[in-house]
Amino acid sequence: MDDDEPQRFRLPAVSRRGFLALAATAALPPAQAAADAARIAELVARMTPEEKAGQLTVMADPFRWRPGGVNPDDMNVDEARLAAEIRAGRLGALFNGVGAAGARSVQRLAVEESRLGIPLLFAADIVHGLKTVFPVPLAEAASWDPDLARRTARGAAMEGGASGIHQTYAPMVDVARDQRWGRVVESAGEDVLLGEVFAQARTLGFQGDSLADPLSLLATPKHFAAYGAAAAGLDYAGADVSERVLREVYLPPFRAALDAGALSVMSAFNTVDGVPATGNRRLLTGILREEWGFAGYVVADYTADRELVAHGLAADDRDAARLALLAGVDMVMMSDLYVRYLPGLVAAGEVPMARLDAAVARVLGAKAALGLFDDPYRGSDPALERATVGSAPIRALAREAGRRSAVLLQNAGGLLPLRRDARIALIGPLAAEPVNAAGPWSIFADHAGVVTIADGFRAALGENARLTVVRGCEAEAEIPGGIAEAVAAAQAADVVVLVAGEHALMSGEAQSRTAIDVPAPQRALAAALAATGKPLVVLLKTGRGLELPEAITDAPAILVVWFLGSEEGNAVADLVFGDAAPTGRLPVSFPFRSGQEPYHYDHPPTGRPETAESVFYKARYRDAPNRARYPFGHGLSYGRVDYGEVRLSAPTLPWDGEITASVRLGNPGDRPVEEVVQLYVRDLAASVVQPVRRLRAFRRVEVPPRGEVEVRFPLRREDLGFIGTDLLPRAEPGRFELWLAPDAEAGAAVRFELQA
Ligand code: BGC
Repeated sequence: MDDDEPQRFRLPAVSRRGFLALAATAALPPAQAAADAARIAELVARMTPEEKAGQLTVMADPFRWRPGGVNPDDMNVDEARLAAEIRAGRLGALFNGVGAAGARSVQRLAVEESRLGIPLLFAADIVHGLKTVFPVPLAEAASWDPDLARRTARGAAMEGGASGIHQTYAPMVDVARDQRWGRVVESAGEDVLLGEVFAQARTLGFQGDSLADPLSLLATPKHFAAYGAAAAGLDYAGADVSERVLREVYLPPFRAALDAGALSVMSAFNTVDGVPATGNRRLLTGILREEWGFAGYVVADYTADRELVAHGLAADDRDAARLALLAGVDMVMMSDLYVRYLPGLVAAGEVPMARLDAAVARVLGAKAALGLFDDPYRGSDPALERATVGSAPIRALAREAGRRSAVLLQNAGGLLPLRRDARIALIGPLAAEPVNAAGPWSIFADHAGVVTIADGFRAALGENARLTVVRGCEAEAEIPGGIAEAVAAAQAADVVVLVAGEHALMSGEAQSRTAIDVPAPQRALAAALAATGKPLVVLLKTGRGLELPEAITDAPAILVVWFLGSEEGNAVADLVFGDAAPTGRLPVSFPFRSGQEPYHYDHPPTGRPETAESVFYKARYRDAPNRARYPFGHGLSYGRVDYGEVRLSAPTLPWDGEITASVRLGNPGDRPVEEVVQLYVRDLAASVVQPVRRLRAFRRVEVPPRGEVEVRFPLRREDLGFIGTDLLPRAEPGRFELWLAPDAEAGAAVRFELQA
């Protein structure tokens, strides 16, 4: 795959400025060709209001998908009824049906048996892979390698496209600063710049060079907007963010995805400053359309239009349909409100026909961009499906992505990598279950093809393996005698490898937690293993930043392995046995205590910071440090990199000028080491107080054995900007601090001045 794929962007240094400029020059698909526009106008003119409302409705696919486990099931409609709706032209799209052969027969109903023959759009939640599962998005963000994310999105699009799917409800681009929120796992973490570069990379990967290519998927950045700011981390709770914070933190990744050409956006469940996103005209029309010029279509999240009633915005279902359409929702999901009420609302003059027509034209525009009017059966080719899904290059990419997503938090005494001839006790409830490798939102995963950590160890160790695998406890429950069995196995081993943390379904949608800890039975298991005194390696499974118990933080080695997907076991074995070295970096802060949440490294300063001299009446907790246990950006490798002094080419940055920040990295060891150099900035006095540090750029470099490299970052005024009280981007002259550091808490600052 590596060799076949054109490198659309390969970033020497990823800064917001550079990334957006590159995307702008990339060959992105036109929103709508002129010929298509004429065809669409003609179709809209022929459609009845009922057919128009139908085009604006997407339902779960009953033909190829047996729902369960994901989403509430109560709305599902049976096959016969939905087939009748399609024939009557009262349905525009289906989602979560998979399979090329089935796609063909369902599409035939629309194309050959409905009055206007408008093809259906097939969407699906391809969040981190289809049958072949890649690392969960949070894990992949830990690679700090957007090009890797572009390539895995491409792999996912290839499997999806070849399985008769046209659109993915991804990338999820919500900035996630509260680790209590379960959907952190689907995000790129807590940082805005990482959010932007991953949103852009994934969009480019899904959509490929041309949307009309059957192996490309229409991207749908979600959930617009501020879904990640759910109060107290409770999924579906309101987001009480100011418009300034909205524009500074939550909107930029959406903007980045749209700049990369995404032609669809999903509106969120939550309220934003009191108004549900799905009924929010200011967001969906004011910002998205009028300000950003978005030409694609907005799909409401699952029944989010109907939920306007429960929220208390709409008086009843009819009112909900009216408010959603007028706010800017073009298509509703798992809801019949548009079909039931839009024709009447238009007839009563409560909704202009022009608004309905605009929504229909946008949906048809997306279908045209996908080439569905030329080939409604695109991707419905079982031979292509067989050749693509689970192909060797895609599996190899999953393994590579897995390796590059793990994060080594500590490795005292160089315990890792392990020798293959060691006697190993592999212990824990999460070591041998396919579902715990695949992670949440891998709803189409081929579980039989998942390589668990136990499988991966066996494959790596071969016939001479001296490996014992013991469960010890369940993820959230004790097993009678389990700890005793685990301790006995540990005592008979040279080294203990404990796979512990969250099981896959403890994070994801509707999986908020107040205590983001390792469940008690696993804590007891970890403590018992630590007490044996055997060297302990912890492989930490999680979909969020976790609070870790001492039995784990005291272990010499901790490798965060998240949910790495189909090749998890092989990827982990590659790292544990030293065929590859860990290179990942945390995209979220791990707190000392759950109660610190929402904790994010780029928090504002306080007027009363704790100092070495005084802790009285300062911003501090009685019972936990006011910083991260493992900071954002942290991650080790199997070698060491020494940072030299940070140098600036000049102490003053002229308003329209550029200076360079540089640092020399040395590698005293005898194997190459990959390092992610992170550029953080603090504006010391600004009209809106600026975070204690803010990531402005990063760069991945390889430092050769016993060698040195110099890493340079250009710095301009644009790298110092923020959103002012007038809601506009600005930079202000004055003094700044700058770090080139291996994480968000490390390094010594140098100062410079931005001169007016
Ligand atoms: C989720 C979306 C998802 C949709 C369809 C919703 O509950 O919030 O992210 O795309 O379901 O499955």
